[in-house]
Amino acid sequence: MAKVSDLDAFKFDQSKQVIDTTKKVRIGIIGTGWIAGSHIKKYLEMPDVEIVGGADLIEGKAEAFFKEYGVENVQCFRSHKELIDAGICDAVSVCTYNATHAECTIYALEHGVHVLLEKPMCVTLDEAVAICKAEKASGKVLSIGFQPRFDANMQMVKKIVESGVLGKIYYIQTGGGRRHGIPTPFGTTFIEKDKGAIGALGDIGCYSLDMVLNAIGYPKPLTVSGYVSDFFGKDPDYFVSEGKPAEYANIFGVDDFGAAFIRMEGGIVIDFRIAWAMHLDTPGDTIIMGTKGSLRIPSTECWNGSIGGPLKLYQRVAGKDVITEFPMAAPNKFDNFYLKIRSFLDAVKNGGAAPVPSSQIIINQALIDAINTSSKLGREVEVNIPEI
Ligand SMILES: NC(=O)c1ccc[n+]([C@@H]2O[C@H](COP(=O)([O-])OP(=O)(O)OC[C@H]3O[C@@H](n4cnc5c(N)ncnc54)[C@H](O)[C@@H]3O)[C@@H](O)[C@H]2O)c1
Repeated sequence: MAKVSDLDAFKFDQSKQVIDTTKKVRIGIIGTGWIAGSHIKKYLEMPDVEIVGGADLIEGKAEAFFKEYGVENVQCFRSHKELIDAGICDAVSVCTYNATHAECTIYALEHGVHVLLEKPMCVTLDEAVAICKAEKASGKVLSIGFQPRFDANMQMVKKIVESGVLGKIYYIQTGGGRRHGIPTPFGTTFIEKDKGAIGALGDIGCYSLDMVLNAIGYPKPLTVSGYVSDFFGKDPDYFVSEGKPAEYANIFGVDDFGAAFIRMEGGIVIDFRIAWAMHLDTPGDTIIMGTKGSLRIPSTECWNGSIGGPLKLYQRVAGKDVITEFPMAAPNKFDNFYLKIRSFLDAVKNGGAAPVPSSQIIINQALIDAINTSSKLGREVEVNIPEI
């Protein structure tokens, strides 16, 4: 892959916000549903952004969206292709459902447009490879929308691991989930096979994986033994008890639970589980175990960067078992969504590396793909990510 980066490349100084307004970025939004609202709210806070266009497959949806946010003089289209072909955007946010992430991103990159792509990166490893190839050929910025990367507590997890205090890391348990939380906020796009395509795995599983993989530097994955199920999503009573139509159970075509045993290079194993629904409060805290110490990250859904309580470091010092509790970080002056958008814009304007690069997230996507494949085959599978 062309660029390797992490947030060290993100030089945006939160205490002295200086934005060069002489250079504006012309932004388009592809897919004007739920998450697009978070993007536009932040773009509207940026004095160096001109929102020029939007597209949605549903007639009138893009127009209604911009009206709701009071944005005028915006060109609206019925597909990502029409918006890109209009040649009005320097950069786009791809806010479509998972199934169309790849086609929208590739089309934009192939036409010389920078992309901020919502998570998960896409659906399959093949799609992720095609995205990375398009990125490399384009020389444009592609950043993936993992806003927890900007959270101070999440960054502390990485700092603790990188300090070496844990010694050699050999075992990680990660995941999380909800007791009742199959997302159907404004319809069923998250649960339809041809739209959401992957369920809890792609929606919140990708965050739990990113939290630990980013901390340990995204080593190469080797093998995965995965399992997915859909017991809650296929149960009409689940939706009725949530005040939703029973028919949602017929529409449900994705996973609501996933689990995996993952082997990574460097002798690290990851024990992973994620749930949109379960008869349990939490499937456990995230733990990172090392030869010199272990870290506990209290159970979290991860999506907004929050953790369930102070990080705890367990060590044996001078013959005594000790626990160090890290005070929770104060909230950032700017929230995680703001920083996700700002860091992308800075990379676009300054020709910088992507804040959340595809070279890392392709590994996240490869694992999600492998969990699904392994579950279908009923056996462990190898993970092979081609050179881009
Ligand atoms: N970062 C976060 O915290 C967060 C939160 C929620 C959702 N998401 C992600 O955002 C994505 C969208 O989720 P959502 O809840 O907004 O979905 P949504 O269904 O509300 O909106 C998606 C919109 O994209 C449109 N669309 C699909 N393909 C298109 C195309 N080719 N051209 C133009 N429009 C197209 C659809 O018509 C739909 O209106 C998902 O991938 C989801 O995982 C991220």
